[in-house]
Amino acid sequence: MDTKKSSPSSKPSHKQVECTAIYLYTLFSFFFLLTFHSLTITNTSTTTTITITTFSDHPLTFHPLKDTKIPPYKHPNKTWFMSTLSGKAINGMPEHFVFPSDHQHSKNNNKILCISPRNKSYAFTTDHLPENTTVLPGLTFIADSFYDYENPWHGMNAVAGFFAWMKENECKKPSRFLLFKNGEVVKRVGSWVYNLMKVGLGEEVVLERLEGSSDRDIVCFEKVVMMRRGLGGMSGMMRHGLFEMLRSKAWRYCNGSRSRSSSSGNEMIKISLVGREGKKRGFKDENEVKHVMKRECDELDGCSFSFIRFTSNMSFCDQVCNS
Ligand SMILES: *[C@@H]1O[C@H](CO)[C@@H](O)[C@H](O)[C@H]1NC(C)=O
Ligand SMILES: *[C@@H]1O[C@H](CO)[C@@H](O)[C@H](O)[C@H]1NC(C)=O
Ligand SMILES: *[C@@H]1O[C@H](CO)[C@@H](O)[C@H](O)[C@H]1NC(C)=O
Ligand SMILES: *[C@@H]1O[C@H](CO)[C@@H](O)[C@H](O)[C@H]1NC(C)=O
Ligand SMILES: *[C@@H]1O[C@H](CO)[C@@H](O)[C@H](O)[C@H]1NC(C)=O
Repeated sequence: MDTKKSSPSSKPSHKQVECTAIYLYTLFSFFFLLTFHSLTITNTSTTTTITITTFSDHPLTFHPLKDTKIPPYKHPNKTWFMSTLSGKAINGMPEHFVFPSDHQHSKNNNKILCISPRNKSYAFTTDHLPENTTVLPGLTFIADSFYDYENPWHGMNAVAGFFAWMKENECKKPSRFLLFKNGEVVKRVGSWVYNLMKVGLGEEVVLERLEGSSDRDIVCFEKVVMMRRGLGGMSGMMRHGLFEMLRSKAWRYCNGSRSRSSSSGNEMIKISLVGREGKKRGFKDENEVKHVMKRECDELDGCSFSFIRFTSNMSFCDQVCNS
C-alpha cells in the first residue's frame, strides 16, 4: 500500500506551528504509517470524531469536477463545479462548504473530500480510504472560479471569501490553497492576487498543484473549506469588514506610513482612484472625473486625492502606497 504524505511543495510551513494542524498532521501520519486500521482523528476544534476504519478495495463513486450538464451559476443552489453539492450563502457569508463536519449543511457531516487529479473528478468517503490515497493533512482552501487568477478583480473575488471565513473561525490558517478554474487545477496565480493572499494570511502562500499523480491516484483532504461562487451572496456588512481588514493588512505589509493625521491634527482622508485605460474599462472623461473628485476632496480638511493609472506592471505595494 502506497501512502505518500503530501509532496514537498505542499508541506506546511514552519510558521504554522501555532495551529493545531501540525498536531493533527503528526497524529495523522503517525497512525497512517503504523497502522491502517481503526484510525481515529479527533478534531479538537469542532469536537467531531471521524473514524476511518480501514483502507479498502471498495471503490469510491467519482463525479466530474466540472459537470457540463449543469449550466454555470444559473441555479441558485448548485453549479457545475462539484455539482452534486447544493448550498447557499448564509449569515452574510458567501456559499461555502466544510468537509468533514459542515454545520451548515448537515448532510455533509463527516464527508471526506477526495479528488482524482488525473480524471478531474471528486468523491466523498466517510469510513474508508481507497488504496493509493495521498492524504493532505491540515486545512485546505479550495476555490473554483469562472475566470482566471491573473486578473486582480476576478482573482480577488475567488479567494477573498476565505479570509472572511478565517476571521469567523478563530483565524485558522490553511496549509495550502488549491485553486480551480472551471474544474481545471490552476498552476499560477497573478502577482497582485498572490500578494493579496499573502497579506490575508500573513505568510507565504502554498499553492497546491496536484502534480505527479498517476491515473489511479487519489488525493483526500483532512479538512477542506470549498468556495465556488466567490463573494457572491456576501452581505454588505461582511464585505465591508473583510475589505477593511485586508486594506489594513496590506497597508502594514507594504510598510505604509503610520501617521493618520493631517498637519492640522484632523483625521486624514486619503482617496485614491485607480483607473484603467482603454475604451472598455477606462473613464470616458478621465480629466473630468479627476476634477470633480479633487474639488469635492478639497472641501474637506485633511483630504488628499490622487489618481493612479493601473498598469499590469504596477506592483502590489505601488498600488497600496503610491497614493
Ligand atoms: C434552493 O435551496 C433552498 C433551501 O435550501 C430551497 O428552498 C429551494 O427550493 C432551492 N432551489 C432550487 C431551485 O432547488
Ligand atoms: C481514472 O480513470 C481510469 C480510466 O478510466 C480508471 O482506470 C481509474 O480507476 C480512474 N481513477 C480514479 C481514481 O477513479
Ligand atoms: C496502487 O499502486 C500500485 C503501484 O503504482 C499499483 O500496482 C496498484 O495497482 C495500485 N492499486 C490500485 C487499487 O489502484
Ligand atoms: C517592510 O519593512 C521591513 C522592515 O524594514 C522589510 O523587511 C520589508 O521587506 C518591507 N516590506 C516591503 C513589502 O517592502
Ligand atoms: C509599466 O507600463 C507602462 C505602460 O503600460 C510603462 O509606461 C512603464 O514604463 C512601465 N513601467 C515599468 C517599471 O516597466
